[in-house]
Amino acid sequence: MKLFLDTASVSEIRQMWATGILDGVTTNPSLVAKEGRPFETVLREICEVGIPSVSAEVTATEVDGMLAEGHRLAKFHPAIYVKIPMTVAGLEATKRLSSEGIRVNMTLVFSANQALLAAKVGASYVSPFIGRLDDQSQDGIELVRDIRTIYGQYGFKTEILVASVRHPVHVLEAAKLGADIATMPMAVMEKLVQHPLTDLGLAKFLKDWQKVPHEKSGGA
Ligand code: G3P
Repeated sequence: MKLFLDTASVSEIRQMWATGILDGVTTNPSLVAKEGRPFETVLREICEVGIPSVSAEVTATEVDGMLAEGHRLAKFHPAIYVKIPMTVAGLEATKRLSSEGIRVNMTLVFSANQALLAAKVGASYVSPFIGRLDDQSQDGIELVRDIRTIYGQYGFKTEILVASVRHPVHVLEAAKLGADIATMPMAVMEKLVQHPLTDLGLAKFLKDWQKVPHEKSGGA
């Protein structure tokens, strides 16, 4: 499963990219706004890190505007996936951009039927927002299960990008279901690494290492 960071913070992206576990980045208008810098500046810096997949979202709500922004973003850098919301206009824009070979990440997906539509119009990624469903007392992971079943039955090539991930169990459940990608905040990705027994074990090894006698150095 590919692991993406859901952030527009270039320092977070650089830090995780260096570890070798990062496969991509997703941004959205809210995440870009948090950076307090122009969109193009942030996007250029993210792409220059060398990340192979960078999702950048359109803000137009009509087809023509989505197409114009989609074309601009696709030309911006080869790593870009154009993020388009799940609306009627978004479906049409996705169909047209996909038919031109531009990769689209259909976002704000909250039902399996919406995911079915995203696949039908040729989206490269579908982004079910599982944490926001959990917030509404609906089981977000069940949505991933349904999408996996439907895509498997019809052989859709659209990759399932599990979004709005809030904790490591979301990542675990998404992986068990065979989701293609999970995108998560830095804090969740850091928690994937951590285990208290790892910390305790390492502390003990280092303490015991102090008891190992050292050979005397010096002399020819
Ligand atoms: O980037 C889209 C999604 O991951 C947002 O997550 O936590 O704002 O629901 P969240």
